[in-house]
Amino acid sequence: MIAIGCDHAATALKEDLKDHLRQRGLECLDFGASGEAAADYPVAAFKVATAVAQGHCALGILLCGTGVGISMAANKVRGIRAVCCSEPFSAKLSREHNNSNVLCMGARVVGAAFAKMILDAWLDASFAGGRHCARVEMIAAIEDGSFSC
Ligand code: RB5
Repeated sequence: MIAIGCDHAATALKEDLKDHLRQRGLECLDFGASGEAAADYPVAAFKVATAVAQGHCALGILLCGTGVGISMAANKVRGIRAVCCSEPFSAKLSREHNNSNVLCMGARVVGAAFAKMILDAWLDASFAGGRHCARVEMIAAIEDGSFSC
């Protein structure tokens, strides 16, 4: 199950990506927003990030105008490694090297067709492990206050 959410700037893109997920045979859980009323991006970020962090959803997708605010908010939830991407290469590497678990994009930055390419690159990649494990563990240590260097 993939969690998906957005603010008011990205409701149309969210519907496009939900269709795309369905076409790929993937189920998603929509945490809003919908309609045109202003919707604060931290709300969707918190709901989707919490669903992923608590294991209810394997991965999350978050969309706002730029992808920036919603990724910042998601990364405040313990266990979340959200990446804000506007091209497929970083999306792929964020999975392979950083084990990203939430993909964020900006509806005012990327068009729907390109967003689908970015999403596919992210979904098709997986964590490479190996030398990357210790670095991802360091991120977690920074998060829980135990990091020292
Ligand atoms: C909303 O106008 C806009 O600020 C939001 O969608 C996002 O771009 C914030 O990072």
